[in-house]
Formats: sequence, C-alpha cells, structure tokens
Amino acid sequence: MRTIKVALGDRGYNILIGRNLLRLLGAECARLNLGRRCAIITDRNVGPRFAKAAQRSLAKAGFESCLITVPAGETAKSLKTVQACYDQLARHRLERKSFMVALGGGVVGDLAGFVAATYLRGIAFVQVPTTLLAQVDSSVGGKVGVNLKAGKNLVGAFYQPRLVLCDLDALRTLPTREYRAGLAEVIKYGIIYDAALFKRLEQDMPKLLKRNPDILAAVVARCCQIKAEVVEQDETENGLRAILNFGHTIGHALEAISGYGKYLHGEAISIGQVAAAHISARQQGLSIDHVERITKLFRQAGLPTRVRLDAKQRTRMFAAMKLDKKVSSGEVKFVLASKIGRVEFGRQVPKALIEESLIF
Ligand SMILES: NC(=O)c1ccc[n+]([C@@H]2O[C@H](COP(=O)([O-])OP(=O)(O)OC[C@H]3O[C@@H](n4cnc5c(N)ncnc54)[C@H](O)[C@@H]3O)[C@@H](O)[C@H]2O)c1
Ligand SMILES: [Zn+2]
Repeated sequence: MRTIKVALGDRGYNILIGRNLLRLLGAECARLNLGRRCAIITDRNVGPRFAKAAQRSLAKAGFESCLITVPAGETAKSLKTVQACYDQLARHRLERKSFMVALGGGVVGDLAGFVAATYLRGIAFVQVPTTLLAQVDSSVGGKVGVNLKAGKNLVGAFYQPRLVLCDLDALRTLPTREYRAGLAEVIKYGIIYDAALFKRLEQDMPKLLKRNPDILAAVVARCCQIKAEVVEQDETENGLRAILNFGHTIGHALEAISGYGKYLHGEAISIGQVAAAHISARQQGLSIDHVERITKLFRQAGLPTRVRLDAKQRTRMFAAMKLDKKVSSGEVKFVLASKIGRVEFGRQVPKALIEESLIF
C-alpha cells in the first residue's frame, strides 16, 4: 500500500493506494476519531459490486452503516438527489459526529461530498473512488458540488475529505471507455507537471491499458501526489490550481455544445488538450515534436484527438467558452505548455488561433 499525504494543516489527510483495500475501510476510519454511525452513498452500478464489502469492513471495526443508492450517471449530480440524501440521513438519524462514505466515481464523490459539507453544517466524509478519473483527480482536493440546469458544477464548496482510499481492484470492472477517459486526466498530469511521468506513460501505455496492477499503482500514486502538491499550494484556486484545467476550456465547451452525454469528460478534454497543444506551439513555443508526442499518446490511449465542427458549431463553442465559470470579466483564459512538463496559466488567446487549433 502507498500513502500520499495531503498537507493542509488541520484539514490534511492521507490518500491510500493499493490492491484489496476496501477490506481496510473500517480499520482506517477507526483511526480518524469519527462517530459510530455512518452513511454510504453509492450508485446503482457500484453498489451491487462493492457496497457489501464496504459495509462488512465498517461493521468489523464497530461502525453502523446505512446505504443510500442514487441513480448512476451525471444526472444524479443534482439538488434533487441532494434533497433525497438529506431526507435519508435524517431518517437514519445521522448526527454531527457521524460521517459519510462516498463509494463510486466522480459523480458520487462530488454529490456525497456536497451533502457532507452541508448536512448539519458539515459532517466528516471519506472518499472511496471506484473510477480511474475519481482515483487520480476528483476524489482529491476537496471540490464538491452539483449541477444546475444552467451549467455543470455551479453549486458547490471546497470541503476536504478525511481520507481517500483508492482500491485498484475496483477498477477491474470499469467499462473500457470509462477507463480510457480516466487516462486523459493521467496524461494531463504528465503534460502540466512531470515530463518523466509522460515518458513513462509513452513506454507503459500498452500495460496500462491492460490495467497492470504494478504500473497502475505507481501511476495513480504519482497523479495523486501531483494533485496534492498543487492543492497544497492553492487550495481554493486563486492561481496555480488553474493548471489542472489544461485542455478543459475547449473540453468543457465541447461537452456543453454536444449535449452532455455524447463525449465523456475524458474524451472531451483529450480533444481539448490536443487543441491546447497546437495553440501552445503557436503562442508559447511548444515544439512540434512535443505536440506530436502529446497527440500520439492520447491516440495510443484510445482517445479522440480531434473534432469536426462546422462554422455554426464553432460559434456555439465560443459562446459556451464564455459561459464557463472559470471565465473572469468575459475573458477566456488558457493554460498553455512551453514544453511537456511545464505550463503557464492565465494566457489570453486570440479567437482566430482557437479556431485554427480546432481544425487540426
Ligand atoms: N471534484 C473534482 O475535482 C472533479 C474533478 C474531475 C471531475 N469531476 C466530476 O467527476 C464526474 C465524472 O466522474 P466519473 O468519470 O468517475 O463518472 P461517474 O461517477 O459517472 O462514473 C462513470 C460510470 O462508471 C460507473 N462505475 C463507477 N465505478 C465503477 C466500477 N468500479 N465498475 C463498474 N462501473 C463503475 C458509474 O456507475 C458510472 O456509470 C463529473 O461529474 C465531473 O464533474 C470532479
Ligand atoms: Zn477534468
């Protein structure tokens, strides 16, 4: 088992990464000085696979857990589901010292985290991420929230978990498409922060695609460490944390205009990162060789790298970019790379160049 520390003073916590970890959930929670009662929030795909093991482990450590199962998929990240969760927590008489366990992908993590942040003005919560995306990204860093009709993640909070437990065995049942989408965030860490990780991914992608446990352990741990380092320096995204949005300006807009559901988030940001690499070549001195290595790695991971948009769709893309919540005073800001492993945030890009980057 590997342990990564997220050093945030009294909000600090450990990320545990390894195989067969779910059985340790109860024992690990027991170290955290939490109340006896807890609620597990999970979804309809994950619950039937892993909830029993989670409950058994909690029971063995003396915890009494109830299970709340929400529908699977992005639509569950809504205020309506939040309300339904509050009702169940009240029915099961969860108290201030009680805690919640988010057992699932990023949807469950964001939703359960938001419920935990707000129920009784905040109760403790533990993340047990079961998708690759959630293990390397969404379960770490404390961004929690839900969607509104007007847009994604418009209601939320910064609320750190007390523990993140990444059981690599949980990834075995993840559908191939979802697994690959998670790889888009993994590759992102290489581009924004760590050239050695990027090189390792170039070498080991075939094994990673086969979900080789040793490689997966090393890669997930490195990604979590990078996310921890970034969050430690900028917990509430006033600066540096923005680098995690590499490829996301275009990616989010693409998700929005194609109606959420056509592209998975990882697929959209794969296209977005390749477009951002092209822009970086023109504006930040990224070499053509690095642009090609970036494009090739996404392709090797089985991810889309380009999209064909007609003029009308491009207009809608720009409108969507301006609606993105990261836009300040109407200006779209980009994260751009000067080389693999090094990026800068807050760069303005002329519209014509964005348009050009989408034609590749
Ligand atoms: N909080 C953050 O910092 C942050 C960062 C990135 C993304 N996100 C959010 O994360 C969400 C996406 O997360 P996701 O990609 O994990 O999607 P998800 O939670 O919808 O999971 C994807 C699908 O896989 C299923 N699933 C999950 N684990 C499984 C397993 N082990 N075996 C079989 N099926 C499994 C789920 O039921 C779902 O159908 C988005 O809402 C996004 O906004 C948040
Ligand atoms: Zn992302």
